[in-house]
Amino acid sequence: MTNTSKRGQPRRAFHGTLRFVLPTLIVILLGLNLWVQQFPLSDGSELLSSNKHSKKKNVIFFVTDGMGPTSLSLTRSFRQYAHDLAIDDILTLDKHLIGSSRTRASDSLVTDSAAGATAFACALKSYNGAIGVNSDKVPCGTLLEGAKLSGYHTGLVVTTRITDATPGSFSAHVDFRTQEDLIAEQQLGDYPLGRQVDLMIGGGRTHFYSSQSDRKYGSRGSRRDGRNLIEKAEKDGWSYVGDRSQFDQLQLGQNVSLPLLALLADYDIPFDMDRDEEEYPSLEEQTITAITALSEATKDSDKGFFLLVEGSRIDHAGHQNDPSAQVREVLAFDRAFQAAKDLADRSEVETIMISTSDHETGGLAASRQVTKSYPEYVWYPEVLYNARHSGEYCSKQIANYKGDDKKNFIKHEILEQNLHITDYRDEEVDFLTRENNRNAVQDKLNDMISFRAQIGWSTHGHSAVDVNIYAYSNKKHAMDDILKHLQGNHANTEIGSYMAGYMDLDLVQVSKKVRDTRHSPDKSSAPGINSVIDEYYHRINA
Ligand SMILES: *[C@@H]1O[C@H](CO)[C@@H](O)[C@H](O)[C@H]1NC(C)=O
Ligand SMILES: [Zn+2]
Repeated sequence: MTNTSKRGQPRRAFHGTLRFVLPTLIVILLGLNLWVQQFPLSDGSELLSSNKHSKKKNVIFFVTDGMGPTSLSLTRSFRQYAHDLAIDDILTLDKHLIGSSRTRASDSLVTDSAAGATAFACALKSYNGAIGVNSDKVPCGTLLEGAKLSGYHTGLVVTTRITDATPGSFSAHVDFRTQEDLIAEQQLGDYPLGRQVDLMIGGGRTHFYSSQSDRKYGSRGSRRDGRNLIEKAEKDGWSYVGDRSQFDQLQLGQNVSLPLLALLADYDIPFDMDRDEEEYPSLEEQTITAITALSEATKDSDKGFFLLVEGSRIDHAGHQNDPSAQVREVLAFDRAFQAAKDLADRSEVETIMISTSDHETGGLAASRQVTKSYPEYVWYPEVLYNARHSGEYCSKQIANYKGDDKKNFIKHEILEQNLHITDYRDEEVDFLTRENNRNAVQDKLNDMISFRAQIGWSTHGHSAVDVNIYAYSNKKHAMDDILKHLQGNHANTEIGSYMAGYMDLDLVQVSKKVRDTRHSPDKSSAPGINSVIDEYYHRINA
């Protein structure tokens, strides 16, 4: 007792001195600063540069691929159930709702992600499949290219392939979304404009190397030209990150040397509910890393950064009609949005965050008639809560099962353990045991969950319903300006135009600079577009 208090004595005295000295020091420094500011340099250059500094801007554009209004209702109720929250508890996104967006493509009322992203990136309507090209297949200048050309730093963060439609439309120009090998080349700077992207974090490594490449990059490279773009990128000065341990060395963005190419999976990063944290970072960690690295890189610049963050796999859960995977994808996105907002609130730089979807996927309905008689007014979030893995994960497990009692494996490991379904019927188990097509098994499992939760789906594709627009700025005048232009119902292209105007970009001039990009498929090497798109939602990564 006595010892402790004796040792405590001098420390208290020291703290006492600090308590007096620190405030005095701060007052003196503040005074000095005010005094210095009264005497600007006589040529006015100090005033000019401080004006310039106040115009520094960061733009973070969020895309929730395939997330419609129903996804939000579902996720909100799911979260209330899972965390025992009040019935008026809402998501972070809900607090920033400002309007809705019309999503049609130039050639169809129902858009795909390529035309949807090109509408944002180039601020024009194009056809389904178009990546950074207009409806005449002429390359169009994008927000990301315009931002880079005027001095911004740029980045792309996704959970699917970095060469997929949404990131591709901001950083490449090709006639069809399936030309992902060519998209990868352009993203690394192999086109007339040279390198425009400073940071990429996501999946899609497969389009950057081939099956003949050195095994140190992995074993699932699929480039048709046999090239190893990762090796070339490293020679050209990119930092390459290929797994979780290398990602952790980035220290959430504090230890990044740009340009950064972080390819964390050959295809997709697993759904958040299946994600092994030892193996893959969350979208939130990816987003914090990107924002911190770009903020650090632009710290002494009078230009900020343009960053695209995509919750890519909300769309995949929609295509697969998997409601329990979808609500977790939306929650993972909501956390990433909140993290970005927290960083903006701590930053001096005027930052705008705009979030919207390219389209809705699945025709999701938060109710479903499961009997012939007039339906009850219910749906059951506990069914989604009790499911421990996605249909994608479970169907892969069934396909990989090597034992000799498949039926019991399906009953006990898959249905009871993974999905927490105990009221399965014989014909359901028989179907799952007999069926060898993994896509059909996946669809069956997801339907078993949806049916029991009384959740409806009208399609495995996209729908034409309007999607929500969300926005936030850390500066009031910037938020007022966003509301002036984007409050209410708008075409998706207006969201792109708004960001171009905000960054003072001339996309017509940028378009002239990219016109000569090689963009058409080379007949011998491009896969047939239709067959690939048909299989798109079922893409099997096993
Ligand atoms: C920072 O990154 C370098 C590689 O670029 C790595 O060698 C180093 O270990 C990292 N530092 C930390 C603290 O992770
Ligand atoms: Zn889709």
